[in-house]
Amino acid sequence: MPGPFLELGLGNGRTYDHLREAAPDRDIFVFDRKVAAHPDCQPPPNYMIIGELSETLGGIASRLAGSAVLAHCDIGSGHPVADQALAREIGPKISGLMAEYGVVLSDQRFEVMDWQKCDLPEGVRAGRYYVYQKIPGIPPR
Ligand SMILES: C[S@@+](CC[C@H](N)C(=O)[O-])C[C@H]1O[C@@H](n2cnc3c(N)ncnc32)[C@H](O)[C@@H]1O
Repeated sequence: MPGPFLELGLGNGRTYDHLREAAPDRDIFVFDRKVAAHPDCQPPPNYMIIGELSETLGGIASRLAGSAVLAHCDIGSGHPVADQALAREIGPKISGLMAEYGVVLSDQRFEVMDWQKCDLPEGVRAGRYYVYQKIPGIPPR
């Protein structure tokens, strides 16, 4: 499927580095409230969206709505209540950026109406990671 990838949570840039190595021809839009990764693991400035996810995901909707084929969310703070509140808030905003059949990989559990939970790859412990796919044919609310 053509379309950009989204990386939510640059952090040290470790998973961003994996994504760009695995998919060198993709546009990868990266979101974080700050840029703290080693310079070698930072995206080009026009692909780095700095700010609170609750604001930036909505702000970029006019450019990316319905287009992303993969979103990787690594946004955990270690505070489960706050992390789940964030997931509830941003789930629909991420969904608005996803293409039909697009896949969301996440360290957080999401409950988004137009996402279907998928099986984890063998060897991944339940609750450690989550995989969702955007169900086609459900118009945005
Ligand atoms: C666990 S780290 C990401 C690690 C990264 N994937 C790596 O491989 O190095 C989580 C990141 O999410 C960012 N983050 C968490 N909540 C956020 C929010 N509400 N808005 C923007 N960034 C947020 C943090 O600033 C942090 O850099």
